[in-house]
Amino acid sequence: MSDTPKKLHIKTYGCQMNVYDSERMAEAMGTKGYVLTDDPAEADMVLLNTCHIREKAAEKVYSDLGRLRPFKEAKPDLKIGVAGCVAQAEGEEIMRRMPLVDLVVGSQNYHRLPEMVAATDRGEKPVDTEFPTEDKFDLLPERPLSARPTAFLTVQEGCDKFCAFCVVPYTRGAEISRPVSRILTEAQKLVSKGVREITLLGQNVNGYHGEGPDGDWGLGKLVRALARIDGLERIRYTTSHPNDMTEDLIAAHGEEPKLMPYLHLPVQSGSDRILKLMNRKHTAEEYIRLVERIRAARPDMMMSSDFIAGFPGESDEDHRASLDLIREIGYGMAFSFKYSSRPGTPAAGREGVPSDVADARLQEIQALITEQQRATQQAMVGRDVGVLFEKPGRLEGQWVGKSDYLHAVHVKAEGLAPGALRRVRITAAGPNSLAGELLAD
Ligand code: 5AD
Ligand code: SF4
Repeated sequence: MSDTPKKLHIKTYGCQMNVYDSERMAEAMGTKGYVLTDDPAEADMVLLNTCHIREKAAEKVYSDLGRLRPFKEAKPDLKIGVAGCVAQAEGEEIMRRMPLVDLVVGSQNYHRLPEMVAATDRGEKPVDTEFPTEDKFDLLPERPLSARPTAFLTVQEGCDKFCAFCVVPYTRGAEISRPVSRILTEAQKLVSKGVREITLLGQNVNGYHGEGPDGDWGLGKLVRALARIDGLERIRYTTSHPNDMTEDLIAAHGEEPKLMPYLHLPVQSGSDRILKLMNRKHTAEEYIRLVERIRAARPDMMMSSDFIAGFPGESDEDHRASLDLIREIGYGMAFSFKYSSRPGTPAAGREGVPSDVADARLQEIQALITEQQRATQQAMVGRDVGVLFEKPGRLEGQWVGKSDYLHAVHVKAEGLAPGALRRVRITAAGPNSLAGELLAD
């Protein structure tokens, strides 16, 4: 074996959970002597951490695999692995369609990645997408020094909601929450390494029900315990379902200053008829009242959401109900997607909306959201906000950080360091970021 470390290139698709998983896979491979590279051309192993949520994301994996063919031809011992939700959903099928793939590892099995790579050295082509009985988090190596002041921490995985359009309950499986003590220990370690902001991750994170020292804990109680960690300054969580916003969690937003005033709470549609067809189990009115209660607890709460345009059966009237809901809530930001039929989901067999109609509706939703986003950014001008600085900006003497409301903020300042949390007066709003001046401590 040569002394030069082997190089691993990871491409991450999809959500923040995949970003977290990619980091943990890099750490697991680090124990086997692999270091990360941004350049697939110099890699000894390429790992695609995939997303199955919409057809486009899933198909992109196959075209990207095709693009790796010349690399494999140039370097026949290059290992190619597929991880994440496409791996989970399609397993062996990936090997059949793309014989250049050496291993396929599902989202719950990546603690086994190093031994699977060893198996490829013996000429095997392992596929592991079973839901295991052991907990991967118990078996992964400890997280190494973080260079960043922000970190993700997975507290919950899977989803039991079965929205009619969504593959997550099938790819990520049933809801499982990590025990409280493990989460607190991981958070404490992150903080001891310089992390000042933690985003708690889960496909249905506010459905968190973890084993605590005195019985079952919900997310509100977990947040309050995390807030007691000295040196941890900010807590966020994503993604939530409206029906799991408990009174205790809402109250925590009012009582816990470390819990940031930004909440991603997808509603998907503003039409009760469509919400029912989507199996969302709440009405538009219930969502609006819920946001009112959240804003009563935390008046400056910035709301964010996901919307789907062109769900099967959606009429013009249903679409207008979505636009009405967006106007009623006033989002600081939001994401919208054209409906994509996913194999195996309840909505897959239903007759869809014509593609051009769905496109037009999507554009209308996006235009309205962009307008609200711009207005929200403009309204920040003149306000004082907390900013957690992350790194120097592109311009001389410039620093970049995130505001309490998750806006990117630029300032010109001396003597800042990653992890500095300062008050900033916002002086200007651009399309993608805000500019400001440091206020005296
Ligand atoms: N088609 C379009 N968008 C979808 N999403 C989930 N499944 C689909 C689908 N089949 C969107 C939802 C979800 C976000 C992560 O992706 O809005 O909240
Ligand atoms: Fe998918 Fe979210 Fe619905 Fe769960 S709650 S099925 S993850 S859209």
